Parts: sequence; structure tokens; C-alpha cells
Amino acid sequence: MTGAGRRLGRAFAEALAINGANVIVHYGHSAEEAGGVVRDLEVHGVQAVAIQADLANPVEAAELVSRAEEAIGKVDLLVNNAAIFGPVGALDASIEDWQSHLDVNLTAPFLISQQFARARDGAPGSIVNLLDWRALRPGADHFPYTISKAALAALTRGLAVSLAPDIRVNGLALGAILPPSDGGTNDPLEGVPSERWGTVEEAVEALLFLLAGPEYVTGEILHVDGGRHLT
Ligand SMILES: NC(=O)c1ccc[n+]([C@@H]2O[C@H](COP(=O)([O-])OP(=O)(O)OC[C@H]3O[C@@H](n4cnc5c(N)ncnc54)[C@H](OP(=O)(O)O)[C@@H]3O)[C@@H](O)[C@H]2O)c1
Repeated sequence: MTGAGRRLGRAFAEALAINGANVIVHYGHSAEEAGGVVRDLEVHGVQAVAIQADLANPVEAAELVSRAEEAIGKVDLLVNNAAIFGPVGALDASIEDWQSHLDVNLTAPFLISQQFARARDGAPGSIVNLLDWRALRPGADHFPYTISKAALAALTRGLAVSLAPDIRVNGLALGAILPPSDGGTNDPLEGVPSERWGTVEEAVEALLFLLAGPEYVTGEILHVDGGRHLT
């Protein structure tokens, strides 16, 4: 689980532990929080190990699976959850904004998935990439973020074909679940048919379905966004 030290990644990691999985708690900067997650997961009787890696660095991203396997043994599930969400539009995005979003939100999931698939070496596995309803409906806000998630949706479908039949690859496209950690907002309820925020529990339920659900589901992008992508 990348980005498992806080927020949704933490909830996802906890749900996996409750269901009996040993969990790698990957983090970037949140060392203290990741240590707390490890202690919380161990209460459920599973093995949990925190691993730091800067996913903006392709070498560190590519090494994550082998470091995980050294720490915990074979890895059979991968959740690409870590992301950055910069509040810049198409005209004000700098080359650094553009590149950092592609590095963390697209290149790192690709490199980690590639290493994961090589390590599985024909054994079954399941990957879920965290997407956004905007991924299939790009708009003007958070432009480099949206484009990186649109490309991650394409990567999800491309890898589903490339890694079949052994490894399933699906996307979880979320709407408004948690407000951005930088405090930035636009009105997330505007245009949401369900007229409410989604809950962390709903996101967790969908993740578990995609990871462990019907084996005939691959290349699917499941929206948990109250219908936002339709309006
Ligand atoms: N929150 C929502 O309502 C919502 C809506 C739509 C989509 N999503 C998607 O769901 C996922 C989780 O959302 P969230 O709001 O919980 O995410 P978040 O708080 O914005 O970020 C998740 C994690 O990404 C990690 N990260 C960022 N840059 C990194 C880097 N260079 N190296 C290593 N780790 C890095 C951070 O780890 P550290 O803190 O350890 O650095 C952070 O804990 C994301 O992919 C997001 O795009 C969320």
C-alpha cells in the first residue's frame, strides 16, 4: 500500500489488516504516522512493516517491491494510492508542477506495477490504482493532477491486458471522500447526484471488492463518486 501513513491510505491498510493481510506501510514524509499505523495493524495479528521511499524518484519507486519482499516475503496485492494533488490550472502550471505530478501519480505506479508483475513470475496477483472521477472527465482545475490520473486510468486498462491472465488490474475512481489536506477547496458537492460526500467506509468497501472480488473483473474502473462522473 503506497501512501499508507495517513488519510485514505491508512484506512485502506487497516481494512487489509482486519481481513488478515500482512501489509507494507509505504510512506514518503509521514514517518511518525506510518509508525503509528504499523502499531495499529499489528493489533490485528498481522505483520506490518513501514518502508520509506520518495516516489518522485524512479529509482526508489522501482526498488519498492524488492524492499517489500525482503521485509515481508512475497507480495500478492498492490495498491497504488500515493499521489499529489496540486491546485494549478493549465496556464499557471510550471514544468516542475507538470513533471512532479507525472512522476508520483503515473511513473511510480507504472514502475511499482512492473516490478510487482516481474516478482509474481506467473503467480496470481491483484493491483488497484487510485483514480479520480476527473480521470475520465478532465476539467480545468488541478490540471496536471487530472491529466496524470487520466493517464493512470489508461495505464490501468493497458496493464490489465498486458498482465493477464495472472494479474488483475483495476481502478478505483473516487469522488469527494476527504477534503484536500492542503485545505484547498472548490465546492465538491456541485453536480453530485447523491448530494453528499462519500464515506471512507464506502471507499474501503470498493477497494476490497476490487482487490479480492470476482476474478473475472479486470481493467474495470469503478466510480465511487455519487454519480459525479455522469453529470
Ligand atoms: N481524498 C479524496 O476525497 C480523493 C478523491 C479522489 C481521488 N483520491 C485519490 O485517492 C488517493 C488517496 O487520497 P488521499 O486524499 O488520502 O491522498 P493524499 O493525502 O493527497 O496523499 C496520499 C499519500 O501520498 C503520499 N505521497 C505523496 N507524494 C509522495 C512522494 N513523492 N513519495 C512518497 N509518497 C508520496 C503521501 O505520503 P507522505 O505523507 O508519507 O509523504 C500521502 O500520505 C490518491 O491517489 C488520491 O488522488 C482521493
